[in-house]
Amino acid sequence: MTAESRYPAIHARSIRDPEGFWLEAARAIDWFEPPARAFDPALGVYGRWFPGGVTNVCHNAVDRHVAAGRGPQPAIYYDSPVAGAKRTVTYAELQTEVATLAGMLRSLGVEKGDRVVIYMPMIPEAVFAMLACARIGAIHSVVFGGFAAAELASRIDDAEPKVVLSASCGIEPSRIVQYKPLLDLALTMAKHKPQTCLIFQRPQAEAKLVPGRDIDWGRAREEALATGTVADCTPVEDTDPLYILYTSGTTGKPKGVVRDTGGYMVALRWSMEGLYGVEPGEVYWSASDIGWVVGHSYIIYAPLLTGCTTVLYEGKPVGTPDAGAFWRVIEEYKVAALFTAPTALRAIKKEDPDGLLMQHYDRSSLRTLFLAGERADPDTVEWAKARLGVPVVDHWWQTETGWAIAGNPVGLGALDIRVGSTGVPMPGYQVDILDEAGHPVAADRMGSIAIKLPLPHGCLPTLWRQDGRFRESYLAEFPGYYKTADAGFKDGEGQLFIMGRTDDIINVAGHRLSTGGMEEVLAAHQDVAECAVIGIHDELKGEVPCGFLVLKAGVNRSPAQIETEIVALVRERIGPVAAFRIAITVNRLPKTRSGKILRGTMKKIADAEPWHMPATIDDPASLDEIATALSARGLAKVSAA
Ligand code: COA
Ligand code: AMP
Repeated sequence: MTAESRYPAIHARSIRDPEGFWLEAARAIDWFEPPARAFDPALGVYGRWFPGGVTNVCHNAVDRHVAAGRGPQPAIYYDSPVAGAKRTVTYAELQTEVATLAGMLRSLGVEKGDRVVIYMPMIPEAVFAMLACARIGAIHSVVFGGFAAAELASRIDDAEPKVVLSASCGIEPSRIVQYKPLLDLALTMAKHKPQTCLIFQRPQAEAKLVPGRDIDWGRAREEALATGTVADCTPVEDTDPLYILYTSGTTGKPKGVVRDTGGYMVALRWSMEGLYGVEPGEVYWSASDIGWVVGHSYIIYAPLLTGCTTVLYEGKPVGTPDAGAFWRVIEEYKVAALFTAPTALRAIKKEDPDGLLMQHYDRSSLRTLFLAGERADPDTVEWAKARLGVPVVDHWWQTETGWAIAGNPVGLGALDIRVGSTGVPMPGYQVDILDEAGHPVAADRMGSIAIKLPLPHGCLPTLWRQDGRFRESYLAEFPGYYKTADAGFKDGEGQLFIMGRTDDIINVAGHRLSTGGMEEVLAAHQDVAECAVIGIHDELKGEVPCGFLVLKAGVNRSPAQIETEIVALVRERIGPVAAFRIAITVNRLPKTRSGKILRGTMKKIADAEPWHMPATIDDPASLDEIATALSARGLAKVSAA
């Protein structure tokens, strides 16, 4: 580690004196009533951060900056190569838009604590929507546009929103994604019926509105502006939820991760300077989507809480129009820090292996490239480092944590982090590698990665209305710890290496998906007797799902036809984001004698990794059959142990 980094002292203090450390950090936030203490272990499931404090996220992200003279500064650079649109929104304009939309929501009966589902593409109105909810203390729940109607419906049923905010369409390079028919379908499927849907009409598609339920957003905004309808920032408790964000669990039922207010702000604000090394007034770009946690934390809340300008990019790393898109955005907006997923870099590397398009653009503003969301393969990291000439920092986190668990805190003085490591724990995090009995293992030994309780602030206090599921999923297996469900190891210097999941979650192009959820869809097909879905290695997306089907006896339709139906079914039930394209019919699945499907071994065969015949296997030939089936599709690179 570099001797001059302030990291070791700061991390040590955050653990030794969390009260002092975090109350000091909390001074970067405006409070209507400051919290008397940083942590109360007696509250909530494992304690709560900043109890008793009263604040408002929208005030901190918008109003106080305008009051401090940042009104004319751009808050958002919206850049959409797919819509052919660009727009700069200053902090003053942001305040007007957000206060107006908040007023509109109030007129629709939305009060503090009510839920609002946001199903929107990457347009400024989506940012206004989230901040408007925060302004009046409503709890937003954003649903990613690439999910299908059934996924949207299950989130609506769990969150029970009073209002849904949506738009007529999203724009993918290959097609216009009509959101409204998906929303209408979701609302026919959902048991819970929201009172109102506010629909933003985009010029690319006009949505048909349902009389009595749907309201035209643009027209309502005009009316609100004409009548001066606005809402001020509602004081909320630090422990009140700011949002619910659903993420994949081990079943098809997503988990509603709750994010609270005060602790989240303190964590994000600290991270902008401490971890990302970015100052107020600078331009920060997270090339993610508002539907993911990275979008919540680092497209919207952290940059705006810090008084930075955030880039809202509605496009892809390649094909909109080419692999130079990221470098064009960096030049155009003078981006100081870029945060993206390794898959985006792999896509660029594939199209422009020598980085020739980079040379067309002035990238001198860029100081650091941050990666997260999936394992960063060392080849891609080295490629980016060599061509961009800036440090490439991998950091590790989860929807549940809301901010990085580990990284290289460049703002404190960068550490010498080994390629392949996601760095060291951020302040407040104590990370241990545990064996099956829950005991810490020695350096360099693989195990389950767990975080000592209490989780630092910013992390989830619980799951929405499901304290029991929260305890059972995260806290039960290793008492005194939060189970990350990631496996890996720590080296002698405390640097963390994240090697994979211990559950059935896979990571497809930086998107977290449940193979268990996909298996539920496959099993629902009338001709399927048994199934297994595994994630297999993919050069571009990291992993892609691969489904194996055993057909019911007596089915006499062609397996190819059924496989095509299965692919369509996953797209229809989960959505295009699942990228489920491989379905393979086999005569049987490999199992242990007790009937457990050997998914791990199947994955190793598909990924050409060394594997051993499990001692408990029922019939060793069943694994050869899997290898043969994969080979027939050109997928398995080896066929035996
Ligand atoms: N709305 C509707 N559909 C969407 C969507 C959205 N917001 N986002 C993706 N999709 C669709 C895509 O159009 C594609 O559909 P298709 O099967 O008809 O082609 C499908 O979902 C899969 O999308 P994706 O996995 O994004 O693949 P891609 O081939 O379109 O693009 C990459 C590949 C690598 C360029 C892209 O995945 C990428 O930029 N990933 C970065 C992910 C990221 O930032 N994650 C956040 C963590 S930091
Ligand atoms: P999500 O909740 O969608 O952010 O996904 C979280 C999961 O993505 C983690 O549990 C890891 O499995 C994986 N992940 C995130 N960041 C990294 C990283 N830097 N390296 C390896 N895996 C990562």
